[in-house]
Amino acid sequence: MAIPHRYGQAGWDFPFQRPLLPPPSAWLDDLAEAYDARWFSNHGALARRLEAALARRCARSVVLANNGTSAITAALMALGLAPGAAVVLPAFTFPATLCAVEQAGLTPVLADVDAHSWELSVECVEAACRGRGDIGAVLAVRVFGLCRDFSALQGWCDARGLPLLIDAAAALGGELDDGRPVGAQGAMETFSLHATKVFAIGEGGAIACDPARVDVLRRVMNFGLEGGDVTSAGFNGKLSEFAAAVGLAQDRVFDAQLALRRAAAQAYAGFFAERHRGWGLAQTPGRPPWQAFPLLAPDAGAADALEGALARAGVQLRRYYRPALHLTRAAARYAARPLEQAGDLAARMVCLPMYSDWRDGELGALFDRLDDALRQLPTP
Ligand SMILES: Cc1ncc(COP(=O)(O)O)c(C=O)c1O
Repeated sequence: MAIPHRYGQAGWDFPFQRPLLPPPSAWLDDLAEAYDARWFSNHGALARRLEAALARRCARSVVLANNGTSAITAALMALGLAPGAAVVLPAFTFPATLCAVEQAGLTPVLADVDAHSWELSVECVEAACRGRGDIGAVLAVRVFGLCRDFSALQGWCDARGLPLLIDAAAALGGELDDGRPVGAQGAMETFSLHATKVFAIGEGGAIACDPARVDVLRRVMNFGLEGGDVTSAGFNGKLSEFAAAVGLAQDRVFDAQLALRRAAAQAYAGFFAERHRGWGLAQTPGRPPWQAFPLLAPDAGAADALEGALARAGVQLRRYYRPALHLTRAAARYAARPLEQAGDLAARMVCLPMYSDWRDGELGALFDRLDDALRQLPTP
């Protein structure tokens, strides 16, 4: 039976996501401040307050952006690389990472990822750079918001004078194993505040950086304007006061949502450890916010079969990040060699539902359906 192509929540007993944004009653009072001041965008008071709140979470300065793709684009533009300079990024990521490199006027170089971490490693970056003299930066990705320590890659970049940026779109609020908050690594880390992320405001983004980068990031996201002149390339990347008001309300409930998601992720891990050991879990994930629960199928056929069996049982999963970028029509030309791990992971990865508002008994009911579906499949 074909897998139904249904998006959104309609028709699913367990949709992949159930975006939870603060209701208007939670942010209307904040917004009154913008109306009183008649100031609705351009680094308003609410945006500044949200930046301060996120800076506390990241232990670094934060500049807001109007979405996560703008945040990566601005971070790349703020590096001041030569036009067309090459940027290494993983082929196993959401297309936004690639779009940002192109939007910034730079040249993507797709790299393979490590089979165990599912992310860029020093070896992968080295292989992608081989024979090239035009590399200007490395853009790593925290896949699925997992919270790994990028010190080894940072050391490799430092030794070559290359800036390291980290697309941490789904990792806001996460911590590395040693307790350091996500946001503090690399030259800059970028986040998405999209409705489907855990820190959800609808559309929004953020960049964690050292204080010295704040002015250039603001300039880049304000058309390159500076002191009445246009001093660099730029675009409009600013976040409105409406979105910032939602963000301030989200910040007030975020810790409770993180706790609920982390408990659910632990339950998922226990379920697979006890009952279905042939399926791969994220290794050394740190303490992610768990936007979704990624699961590596033993092979592509099993991933397809699970997707079909769960769809028939009313459970929606998503095949992130598929297709791997080097297998897409628009980006194949950015890969100089076959990227086997990225292709393999894209074919085998499934992402299971995760919510910020699990209801009583809901996770157990989901595990029952998951158990039934997995038992229908050939034993790996
Ligand atoms: C890895 C990654 N990078 C960047 C983005 C882009 O974020 P936005 O949708 O806020 O532009 C996403 C969005 O899902 C993502 O998953």
